[in-house]
Amino acid sequence: MTITPDSPEPVVTAQDPIRAAHPIRTPKAAPPDVVRCAYMELVVTDLARARHFYVDILGLVVTEEDENAVYLRSFEEFIHHNLVLRAGPIAAVAAFSYRVRSPAELDRAVEFYTELGCRVERRATGFTKGIGDSVRVEDPLGFPYEFFYDAAHVERLAWHYELYTPGALVRLDHFNQVTPDVPRAVKYMEDLGFRVTEDIQDAGGTVYAAWLRRKPTVHDTAMTGGNGPRMHHVAFATHEKHNIIAICDKLGALRMSDLIERGPGRHGVSNAFYLYLRDPDGHRIEIYTQDYYTGDPDNPVVTWDVHDNQRRDWWGSPVVPSWYIDASLVLDLDGNPQPVAMRTEESEMAVTIGADGFSYTRKDDPERRPSEYKLGAQL
Ligand SMILES: [Fe+2]
Repeated sequence: MTITPDSPEPVVTAQDPIRAAHPIRTPKAAPPDVVRCAYMELVVTDLARARHFYVDILGLVVTEEDENAVYLRSFEEFIHHNLVLRAGPIAAVAAFSYRVRSPAELDRAVEFYTELGCRVERRATGFTKGIGDSVRVEDPLGFPYEFFYDAAHVERLAWHYELYTPGALVRLDHFNQVTPDVPRAVKYMEDLGFRVTEDIQDAGGTVYAAWLRRKPTVHDTAMTGGNGPRMHHVAFATHEKHNIIAICDKLGALRMSDLIERGPGRHGVSNAFYLYLRDPDGHRIEIYTQDYYTGDPDNPVVTWDVHDNQRRDWWGSPVVPSWYIDASLVLDLDGNPQPVAMRTEESEMAVTIGADGFSYTRKDDPERRPSEYKLGAQL
């Protein structure tokens, strides 16, 4: 392990240094060729209330809707949707959906997950409006993953500036998943063809989180250590930082500042500018912009020390405890919530004085006692 307690900067390596103690075995079948994260299906308990949040406040574009569901897209999207809001009894995630490179990749997905012993179902065109044939699985980590190629094309509204709001959401950027064993999750995702771009570890080799990509950005999804399987957040991109400030101003003007959970700020990991919101059901939404290009095959991996006060926020701003603790349930293919397993390794919130939101550490303090810098020992 390359991290030492005195690492002043993140460590950069040629490939990820994560090794799983309890790996999921690698299938002989080739994985499907995943292009990008494409949409999330969210179950919401009050469809009108959720629609108000995502359409009237955040400005996502309605492609289609009926009494049970609303299909939303971002301004630069040309496929039917990036987000499905579906009415249901329990707030949860029904699908993390990825686009694959061709229809033939669906057969690969079936073979890959069948060999892993997972529940696999083919869904015919029209099961989800705007989406052609798809494969849905309960993956080895318990997440409902979907793969599809065929999708209805809709107008890309990129040039329709008359429709933009100051906080316009232009792309779906990534998912973030909570899972107890991050190295195990990383090994499986690497078998699925993903590559690690950044991670958070400690000197003892405990891995707290990892960011994984298919498209050439920092991630399509991240694996965050915690009780899971649960969904931590889904992230939409804006063009620039000022668009995120505009969303904060709008929420303030609407006296809805309580929807802002964390930020705005700049991440250490990913270098992106960020804001975290909670929707009316508590689902966490990130607004994200300006990470960096990662598409070369030898893209360096950045490993952050869990005790680096700037890893989660480059300015050292506190991380609120709810951000570590809260997450959304995920559903099995019958629509029932997956049971949540506890993380047995140390939690990032517990080990990081400074990341608990109420204190800050100095690297020259060997016991990493909370100083009274930042919010200090107020509580
Ligand atoms: Fe994120």
